[in-house]
Amino acid sequence: MGRTGLQLTLFGLLLALATTLPNKGDWDIYSFHINSTVTSRYATTVITSRVANRMDESREIEFHVRIPKNAFISKFKMLIDGQEYDGVVKAKEQAQQEYTTAVSRGQSAGIVSSVGRTLEEFKTSVNVAAHKKVTFELTYEELMKRTHGKYELQIHARPMQPVKDFKVDVYIHEKAGISFIDVKGGLSTKALANAITKTHADKQAWVHFYPTEDQQKLCDSCGEEGMNGDLVIAYDVNRDTTLGDIKKSDGYFVHHFAPAGLSRISKNVVFLIDQSGSMHGRKIEQTRIALIHILNDLAEDDYFGLIAFDGAIIHWKKELVQASSENVESAKTFARRIRDRGATDINQAVLKGASMLNAHPREGSASILILLTDGDPTTGETNLEVIQSNVRRAIADKFPLYCLGFGFDVNFKFLEKMSLQNNGVARRIYEDSDADLQLKGFYEEVATPLLTDVTLIYSGGTNLTQTNFSTYYNGSEIVVAGQITDNDIETFSPQVVAISGTRRMTFSGTNTSVESTGTESDGQIQRVWAYLTVKQLLEKELQLSGPEKNKVKKDALELSLQYSFVTPLTSMVVTKPPGENSDVLHKPKEGEKPLRRSHHSHQHPTVLHSPPRVVAVPAHAPVRPTRRPKLPKRITQHATSASPVAATTAAPLLHRFLLKTESRSPPLCFDIKGAALLKLLHHPSRELQVNGELDSITNGGFTKIVIHFTADQHVEVTTTGVTVREGQTVTQHTGQDPITVGSMVVIRRDKEIDVAAGDVRLILLIHNKNGDEFLWPVIRQKPNATDTEGLLALTPAAYKEVQQVSLTKLKIKEQEIDATSAAAVDYGIVFPITMNCWLMSAESALQRRPDDFFVAQL
Ligand SMILES: *[C@@H]1O[C@H](CO)[C@@H](O)[C@H](O)[C@H]1NC(C)=O
Ligand SMILES: *[C@@H]1O[C@H](CO)[C@@H](O)[C@H](O)[C@H]1NC(C)=O
Ligand SMILES: *[C@@H]1O[C@H](CO)[C@@H](O)[C@H](O)[C@H]1NC(C)=O
Ligand SMILES: *[C@@H]1O[C@H](CO)[C@@H](O)[C@H](O)[C@H]1NC(C)=O
Ligand SMILES: *[C@@H]1O[C@H](CO)[C@@H](O)[C@H](O)[C@H]1NC(C)=O
Ligand SMILES: *[C@@H]1O[C@H](CO)[C@@H](O)[C@H](O)[C@H]1NC(C)=O
Repeated sequence: MGRTGLQLTLFGLLLALATTLPNKGDWDIYSFHINSTVTSRYATTVITSRVANRMDESREIEFHVRIPKNAFISKFKMLIDGQEYDGVVKAKEQAQQEYTTAVSRGQSAGIVSSVGRTLEEFKTSVNVAAHKKVTFELTYEELMKRTHGKYELQIHARPMQPVKDFKVDVYIHEKAGISFIDVKGGLSTKALANAITKTHADKQAWVHFYPTEDQQKLCDSCGEEGMNGDLVIAYDVNRDTTLGDIKKSDGYFVHHFAPAGLSRISKNVVFLIDQSGSMHGRKIEQTRIALIHILNDLAEDDYFGLIAFDGAIIHWKKELVQASSENVESAKTFARRIRDRGATDINQAVLKGASMLNAHPREGSASILILLTDGDPTTGETNLEVIQSNVRRAIADKFPLYCLGFGFDVNFKFLEKMSLQNNGVARRIYEDSDADLQLKGFYEEVATPLLTDVTLIYSGGTNLTQTNFSTYYNGSEIVVAGQITDNDIETFSPQVVAISGTRRMTFSGTNTSVESTGTESDGQIQRVWAYLTVKQLLEKELQLSGPEKNKVKKDALELSLQYSFVTPLTSMVVTKPPGENSDVLHKPKEGEKPLRRSHHSHQHPTVLHSPPRVVAVPAHAPVRPTRRPKLPKRITQHATSASPVAATTAAPLLHRFLLKTESRSPPLCFDIKGAALLKLLHHPSRELQVNGELDSITNGGFTKIVIHFTADQHVEVTTTGVTVREGQTVTQHTGQDPITVGSMVVIRRDKEIDVAAGDVRLILLIHNKNGDEFLWPVIRQKPNATDTEGLLALTPAAYKEVQQVSLTKLKIKEQEIDATSAAAVDYGIVFPITMNCWLMSAESALQRRPDDFFVAQL
């Protein structure tokens, strides 16, 4: 082929690519919400994305998100033109047969694929007619695991473009009380940090993440395509020394067992380190680094052994020795000298390790065998089943075996099966710069055994999940769920027996605070039971063979279908408008290599998709500008003399304000009597001013809030609508579409109005009390500047309680202030709660003359 020919082909390819890449302006994600609700460590997350086709022709629109691997998708739906298309969970084989067209065209591959350590991908697409919209809604559920003393909720935000109406709302409710809550992850850094708000009130916590459109381009991993990163919410609950948390509802229970105050028991640990040729380079280097750290962390009364293996066994010492400083130093020297070479004899290594542990007296201590390998058995015994049965016989349930599979060349399924058969777990170590930290992190999870031979007994309980655990480690948690026989709470009695060192311990609670909440849980405890049961059945299935395997598989499948979980045994069929092929999506197996992208949406032949049948329906009535007189209605400040309407009431109404503290100590509160016009926020460098009106009728909050932005953009918000005045033009809005006022964006949702102006994002919540609706402002993104003023700009005051006996004085900035214990409703959250606070004069609470917060005009 001549030069020109080649160039032409290349050019043609480029052209083809260019036309199929999503073009900016073609479609617009105008709203992207993530809503996560966590109760009793069970998280239900809903991702809602609303997309508009801005083109004059129909277009394929993609929905593409990442969810935690540990989660099960339980619902998916698309809304197009008032028509709902629901995903249906079916047995995998059935789905595959029914939708062979989709499958044979390769569409099922890549819809869900494993993408990383903790996330997997969900992807589907649909054709949307010209100027129409589509709403995607995906729900997934997961039971959070406690490791290193905390639970972590990972939320991945990658909407694919900056979004005007982007928000993440997280609500956590834990009966035992939340001991701490932290927000971490790539999105909580620098440029985005001030878009995160966190509220923590004993048993409940809220995290909101409301970055503005501009901000979404600013974070470290963000760009023109918007955000791409994680928000990780870490928390733990309060613990006592007893049986722990038992939650019951509708005949089901879930028990979280992780008692505090236990002392550690010594351990006997043997490390089996693969030094075969494939460990060459960075892997062996990182292993050495991790090993040296781990050896350093051994407690003096631990016993340990160290074996390096390839085709042969290289002992450091033939039996376990105490972790004295000399022994640790000597082991470190050995570890530094581990070199990669030779083949992999896993069988011999594990048997050797097991015999070392078996030869060591175990009285009062916990034994652990840890295998690290990066490959398949290649020498000695190589039949996987024979190895498994040898190992099982050697360990004989006496201690757990943990297998760490380094990289993607290992037969992870083999390791997983072998660990599960021996009361352990397998973990993948990802080849990356932090592999040594992954190794160390895993070791820390098992570094501190607290109890051995833990058995949980539930008389009056049935269909229980796993109740026997070889070891309970500090920082972890044991979870058991089950059914209560005949839903008879009277006869239901839980008990835990375990061994702590040489002592036998019994945990039982007369205090199993029976929280039989029917309202709050909505069958949630039942779902926790189903989730855990399915997970454990899948693990069991892996260990079995023959008819037993089929029986367990059948049970797992039935439960998956009943609870609509997308598990390795089920698929979700995404139904679409007529004329389009359904997508079939599967859950990828752990251990599968990340799929190379085998199909791109732009490979769809465009003619194959006929556009959905579309009936033209106006989205909503057009906004009709209404002429109104000048906006501000004058109300005199300090209207203690009462306005005419309230004249009949005896005392002026009190509006109680909370000033939350950053610590967990109770907030301060103060009252403002009667009607007033308040300065909520003044941000001089952005020419932004927000004022609110309290009247003497509405017993709660604000009747009207006005936002002034630059000289001629004004937005007036009441509970019924939004009025915009731009120069001389006045418009009224009641709809849900984003309203753009200059560079300000106002979004009206069901019970909140969202205002983004410059570097500020403000939410006006609509509350209802005794039939009266009122507004309450909350700041969701704090301005960057330091010269802001107003009630919302106040930094919480730090205080000390000085008079311990009757607790009536607080010390703020070296000044002693009288305070009384009172209650206030926190209207800054969607479902207000009552909290205790220290009531004081407005002047003391604000540390300013209250006059500074009044304005003469709205
Ligand atoms: C989030 O989901 C919960 C549970 O479905 C619901 O009660 C709540 O109103 C939702 N929150 C938001 C902000 O949509
Ligand atoms: C368990 O871990 C916590 C921190 O997560 C620590 O405070 C405590 O001392 C540990 N307990 C033991 C026995 O090491
Ligand atoms: C629970 O156990 C009972 C009896 O053991 C059994 O009949 C029932 O089907 C089980 N329920 C479920 C949902 O597995
Ligand atoms: C659990 O442990 C108890 C006591 O050690 C034992 O009797 C029971 O058989 C075990 N159950 C299972 C399922 O291993
Ligand atoms: C049991 O409950 C009572 C009152 O609710 C409480 O005072 C006591 O400390 C609790 N005991 C335990 C062991 O939690
Ligand atoms: C926020 O303030 C810091 C320091 O005051 C400044 O460096 C930064 O550029 C500001 N960020 C924005 C988005 O204005």
